[in-house]
Amino acid sequence: MLKIGIIGLGAIGQRLLSQFEEHRAVSITAVCDVSEVLAKQTAERLGDVQFYTDYQHLIADGNVELVYVAVPPKLHHAIVMHALQAKKHVLCEKPLANSLEEAEEMARAAKEAGIVHAMNFPLNYGQAATKFAELLGEGYIGKLRRVQLTMNFPQWPRAWQQNDWVGEREQGGFVLEVGVHYIQQILKLFGEMNNIHSKLEFPDNPISCETGIFATAELVDGTPVLIEGLSRISGKESIGFIAYGSKGVLSIENWGLLRGGKTGEELEVLSLEETVPSRLIDELVKAINGEKAEIYDFEVGYQAQKILECLRA
Ligand SMILES: NC(=O)c1ccc[n+]([C@@H]2O[C@H](COP(=O)([O-])OP(=O)(O)OC[C@H]3O[C@@H](n4cnc5c(N)ncnc54)[C@H](O)[C@@H]3O)[C@@H](O)[C@H]2O)c1
Repeated sequence: MLKIGIIGLGAIGQRLLSQFEEHRAVSITAVCDVSEVLAKQTAERLGDVQFYTDYQHLIADGNVELVYVAVPPKLHHAIVMHALQAKKHVLCEKPLANSLEEAEEMARAAKEAGIVHAMNFPLNYGQAATKFAELLGEGYIGKLRRVQLTMNFPQWPRAWQQNDWVGEREQGGFVLEVGVHYIQQILKLFGEMNNIHSKLEFPDNPISCETGIFATAELVDGTPVLIEGLSRISGKESIGFIAYGSKGVLSIENWGLLRGGKTGEELEVLSLEETVPSRLIDELVKAINGEKAEIYDFEVGYQAQKILECLRA
C-alpha cells in the first residue's frame, strides 16, 4: 500500500481524495488544511487518518510516503521544496508554480532528490485526449496546419471553483488555470513553441485576473498556434482544442468530447468506447515501484510554465 498525505482539501483536493479512496493499492494516511474544521472533518470521515493544519507536520509524518499538494499555486513552491528536502514522493497540482523561477528551482530540486515527482494533468489520463493523440499519430489529419485553443467563460471563476484566489491576477485567471492543461498537450503532441506574442485584456480593478487573451505562437517548423479566450461574455462555457491538418481536423470540446472529420466532410463525434487510457494513480504506484510509468513530471510542469509566463507577461 502506498501511503498518501494530502495537503489542501478544497475543490480539487477533495476530487482526488475520492479517487485515492477508491484505489486498492493506496491508502490515505494523513490530511492537512489550514482550516482545522475541514481537516478534522475530512479525517473523521475517512476514519483512522491523522489530520494536521501545518503542512510541515504532515510532511514529517513517517506514515506518509507520497505528498499530494493541492493548495493554491503560490503555495506550491514552499510546500513542494519542503517535501523534497524530506525525500518524499510528490504529486503536485498544476500549474507547477507561481513563477518561472520557482518552477525551475522545483524541477531541479525534484531531479536531485531522486524521488518520484508528478503533476496532475488529467487530460492525459482521459479518453478524449488519449484518442486524439492516437489518431494524430496514425496520420488522421495529415500534415499539421494550425493548432487552436479557444476558451470562453461567461463566468470566471466558475461556479464550482469559488475561492479567494482564482479570480485574482496574482495566482489566478483562466490562462493559468485552464490554459496550462492545453499548453501541456501542445508541448507533448507538437513540441516546442516559440515566437510567442500575447495580448491580454484586464478589467479596471488591478487585483482582478485577465478577462481576455489573444496570443499567437509558432511550432519549430513555423506552424501557427492560436490561443484565445474571453470571460464575462454571453453564451455557455466552452473550451475547444483543435488541430487542423492537410487531410482533416480533430477537436476536443469541453475536455471530453472528441470530434473529427476528413477535409470537406462534416465533423463527427468519434467513439471513445475502445479507448482505455492510463490512470494517474496506477501510474504513480508503478513509478514508485520502479516500473515504467506514464508520469508527467516537474520538468513537464516547468516547460508548460515557461509558455504560461510568456502568455501572461
Ligand atoms: N488538475 C486539475 O484539473 C485542477 C483543477 C482545479 C484546480 N487545480 C489546482 O489545484 C490547486 C487547488 O485548487 P482548488 O480549486 O482546490 O483551490 P481551493 O481554494 O478550493 O482549495 C485549496 C485548499 O488549500 C487550503 N490551504 C491554503 N493554504 C494552505 C496551507 N498553507 N496549508 C494547507 N492547506 C492550505 C485551503 O484552505 C483550501 O481548502 C491549484 O493549484 C489549482 O490550480 C487543478
